[in-house]
Amino acid sequence: MDWITLNTPEDVAKRCCIEIQQCAEKALAKTGKFKIVLAGGSTPSLAYKLLAESNTDFSGWEFYIGDERCLPVDHDERNSKLATSILLKAAGIPSSQLYPIPTELGPEAAADQYEAVIKSALPFDCVLLGLGEDGHTASLFPGHTHPADRLSIPVYNSPKPPSERVSLSFEAIHQSETILFIVTGSGKKEAVNTWKTTGTVPAAKITSKGNIKVLIDSAAAE
Ligand code: 6PG
Repeated sequence: MDWITLNTPEDVAKRCCIEIQQCAEKALAKTGKFKIVLAGGSTPSLAYKLLAESNTDFSGWEFYIGDERCLPVDHDERNSKLATSILLKAAGIPSSQLYPIPTELGPEAAADQYEAVIKSALPFDCVLLGLGEDGHTASLFPGHTHPADRLSIPVYNSPKPPSERVSLSFEAIHQSETILFIVTGSGKKEAVNTWKTTGTVPAAKITSKGNIKVLIDSAAAE
């Protein structure tokens, strides 16, 4: 695992964009496709914006969602809505290249449907992950247990609203060539320290077939 500390959130976003494009170049040269899992939350927004503004040819890209909140289809708080508005729409990428999690169906039905989508997509080329203030990542929260044989899991009683979600499992996330964490802001300092010193937070349990890079700004790293 590489911890890469950068000065500002803008520097993190710029580096994230570069890392994604390098992963894409490698994957496209190998298979003609680039399968990326997008992170939820607000931290990735600037990286998505920079990606949309880059003169990238997105035609071979496939966008998956690492976790989704159980909200109505067009709800502004859905993670796929953020990715669609800041990245896909801004870059003119057809919605057919996005594989959203149908959480409007509820956690069980959505997780079951996405299980098949992920099974046929694996392995991923790149998985983007955020970090919560309690050390969660995607919708894998401290103290929650999940079935070991699933790729996509229903989540209940999430401490971060809404309480019902769907998340990729540790096993699904593991099957990626590259995993990029993006972590910014002093609010994440405690979670980063716990991660580094005890390894007990969910983010610390993320493993990868390839490499893991944690892109972090100085405010979160102190
Ligand atoms: C969500 C995400 C969650 C997020 C972290 C960080 O639904 O919010 O899945 O895991 O990545 O909580 O969120 P911020 O980037 O907004 O701090």
